[in-house]
Amino acid sequence: MQRIFEVSPWDVATHKLDKKNKRLQESLTSLGNGYMGMRGNFEEDYSGDSLSGSYLAGVWYPDKTRVGWWKNGYPDYFGKVVNSVNYIKMNFLINGSKLDLYKDTVSDFTLDLDMKTATLKRSFIVEKDGSKVKFNFERFLSAAQKELSVQRVSFENLSDQPVDIKAISAIDADVKNEDANYDDDFWQVLEINKDSLIAETIPNDFGTPRFTSGMEAHYVTNLKEADSEVGKLETSKTFETTLQKNEVGTIEKRVIVVTSRDYKVVDDLRDAMEGIAAKVTKISYDELLAAHKNVWADRWNQSDVKIDGDTDAQQGMRFNLFGLFTTYSGEDSRLNIGPKGFTGEKYGGATYWDTEAFCIPVYLGVSQPAVSRNLLMYRYNQLDGAYINAKRQGLNGALYPMVTFNGIECHNEWEITFEEIHRNGDIAFAIYNYTRYTGDKSFVLNEGSKILTEMSRFWADRVHYSKRNEQYMIHGVTGPDEYENNVDNNWYTNFLAKWTLKYTLQILGEVTDEQAKKLDVSKDEIAKWQDIVDKMYLPYDDDLGIFVQHDGFLDKDIEPVSAIPKDQLPINQHWSWDKILRSPYIKQGDVLQGIWDFIDDFTEREKKRNFDFYEPLTVHESSLSPAVHAVLAADLHYEDKAVALYERTARLDLDNYNNDTADGLHITSMTGGWLAMVQGFAGMRVHDDGTLSYKPFLPKKWNSYSFRQVFRGRVIEVSVNDDGPHFTLVSGEPLQIEVYKKPLMLK
Ligand code: BGC
Repeated sequence: MQRIFEVSPWDVATHKLDKKNKRLQESLTSLGNGYMGMRGNFEEDYSGDSLSGSYLAGVWYPDKTRVGWWKNGYPDYFGKVVNSVNYIKMNFLINGSKLDLYKDTVSDFTLDLDMKTATLKRSFIVEKDGSKVKFNFERFLSAAQKELSVQRVSFENLSDQPVDIKAISAIDADVKNEDANYDDDFWQVLEINKDSLIAETIPNDFGTPRFTSGMEAHYVTNLKEADSEVGKLETSKTFETTLQKNEVGTIEKRVIVVTSRDYKVVDDLRDAMEGIAAKVTKISYDELLAAHKNVWADRWNQSDVKIDGDTDAQQGMRFNLFGLFTTYSGEDSRLNIGPKGFTGEKYGGATYWDTEAFCIPVYLGVSQPAVSRNLLMYRYNQLDGAYINAKRQGLNGALYPMVTFNGIECHNEWEITFEEIHRNGDIAFAIYNYTRYTGDKSFVLNEGSKILTEMSRFWADRVHYSKRNEQYMIHGVTGPDEYENNVDNNWYTNFLAKWTLKYTLQILGEVTDEQAKKLDVSKDEIAKWQDIVDKMYLPYDDDLGIFVQHDGFLDKDIEPVSAIPKDQLPINQHWSWDKILRSPYIKQGDVLQGIWDFIDDFTEREKKRNFDFYEPLTVHESSLSPAVHAVLAADLHYEDKAVALYERTARLDLDNYNNDTADGLHITSMTGGWLAMVQGFAGMRVHDDGTLSYKPFLPKKWNSYSFRQVFRGRVIEVSVNDDGPHFTLVSGEPLQIEVYKKPLMLK
């Protein structure tokens, strides 16, 4: 655990310029508005170690696969979100000498991410060659006008003698992805002039679209414009002033950022930049900031979670929600939620099963249904890619990818690409979950039924029949526990395959004749699917009374995680891969992931036996893991365990639990705090008949907690304190809910 920011309910702030942990500091001060985002990089050059990164949602490059030994069927490329042209760059010269916080003498340093208003502020005093200047930086990515980035920098002369200040502000296309496979520069400049730059991603051999992005800068300043320089990759403007004692200079930079995702042709892109500029340059900084703050105020009003008595937990929870809202706002069904969002390059910035398994359950509760529906539409729109993936494996139907931008699998590790096929069940589960939570059947009966049918065709071809056992089996898979590869009969995968087929058969009975005709499922197919449902093998151990993670799991040398010497944890940073594979240690919930998905379909005894067996073997080395276990622990009344796991999930990045937050935040895991609180502590469930129920408890350390939840046209506030739970209907029609199994009318 490593905590480098102060604990505070709404801010992530520090008074230390932490040069040793600069990357970590940058990750934790990232900003985003769903359309674009960036790490907390400084505007000015910094000669120490730093990971410079800003990203534009949905703008990616297919980087040719690089592996040691090629295997047939490997994806051609790994899609990577492109590190965007740098539009916040602004260097300063103080009496002709460059400001560089790595080298300069700095005092009164503050760095403050204000989560309430999604603004990043930085201030410090720098002493250079006998002069002393106080700098204040503030920036935000407008939530009111998605294409707008706004920065304001002011500097005050604190020395007795005059100081010359130059601000050199640039748009710079000389940027790289650190993780580029062949060290390519992904951008080439199409057009560059004094105030704007248009760049296009380099050509690729895979027929995937190239992207163009345009950036245009506008300034409001009391400095004098002195010079401008238009280079091959960078365009810059220099502003200058001489500040007398206590005089203040200010420069505001507003950059309009547009891409070919919205404007196909360069002429339209140019017009769009002009159109937006005409609008936003007439407005004052304060008005732009106010419009941005209003959107955030509405967001927090709809979904803030308050925890009284534990500021650590409070900060963790808000940081989680902040991470989600900055990454995905839900209006655009072409976008999805990369595991690192806009905060780093790892995982390519692409879409994973994380979205369906972890994000949709939270977005259902904190936003309008259209947001989750858009995430499902994203998959529907990528069916063609899923057909290609199945075909490449020589199988029928649709296999959704583990990692993708366009529906086509791009993960380069065989044990994931070919084997981690449970994702096809997770997407089916998300369709069911959306339908159950919102009561809106229109998706499942139309687009959803198509997805389900094609995934069922895949499962029906992927299973095989064991004549010896007279059961269907699935061999050669990787379950959610990636510390086991190429296993046979992973309980979770078999269970979800069976469930998907069953659910598809149910939905086929509900679709209109017209839709049924389109789906064209034959009688033979239906009979086969039913046969698989009836005869799917689900490994079970009678003596232990548990579902067995996969064939052979129980023959391992089973010792709990507590037997591993502390200095060997996390095992993925200390042990060789084969030692991990041989061990009984579970990276993240596997059987327990399935029990969490269908939590009310298992008996208390089944839940307890499986939790008691598997949790002690789980190292939680996937950031996605603790939340699942927190919910199950709460369900089983293991309250202390639930709270400990809540802390781990909610503060995973703030406390750098997995020692890898320097690479970027774990955005999809930021769903964990909310899941642990709402499904765990409050015991919130939505049942198949649409009933909303709760069984809340109050963690001992806390005085109270409360959250707001969107449910079928209503906003409900749940607050829990020493007196018990209280429910308020904030908006919408009256609703009957259940609390500890008793009906309660909300009016
Ligand atoms: C987890 C996967 C997850 C991926 C991206 C991995 O470490 O094991 O389940 O999809 O990270 O978050």
